[in-house]
Amino acid sequence: MTRSLMIRLALAAAAASVAVPASAAVDMAKKYNCTACHATDKKLVGPAYKDVAAKYKGDAAAAAKLAEKVKKGGSGVWGPVPMPPNANVPDADIKALVDWILAGAK
Ligand code: HEC
Repeated sequence: MTRSLMIRLALAAAAASVAVPASAAVDMAKKYNCTACHATDKKLVGPAYKDVAAKYKGDAAAAAKLAEKVKKGGSGVWGPVPMPPNANVPDADIKALVDWILAGAK
């Protein structure tokens, strides 16, 4: 086995270990009350997750930008209604939620 292949396998294994199964993300979205304002397929108070995924498709900076936005809150991207800060949600969980949303929130 070549060295570069071994490195790639190690990276793949590391990536797999942090990926959260979709069902866990759904539970997290409920636990942190994201579901009070968001649904996958329709706009509630906030945009539908599938619209968020479509808007940022191909934007490599989106995950970091959205994690920051979920943490601190903000308005003006989807309309005048602000998302309140979610400062109580651990960074790792915000990242998992954002990755799940960007993947279409299935
Ligand atoms: C009280 C209602 C409310 C709650 C609770 C809420 N959101 Fe939001 N969210 C909004 C609104 C309103 C917007 C649109 C903000 C804007 O137009 O910039 C939004 C926008 C977003 C966006 C897109 C941001 C952008 O700049 O495009 C993401 C991603 C998101 N929310 C994820 C979450 C997650 C994850 C949670 C749970 C931890 C959550 N939201 C909880 C109301 C909410």
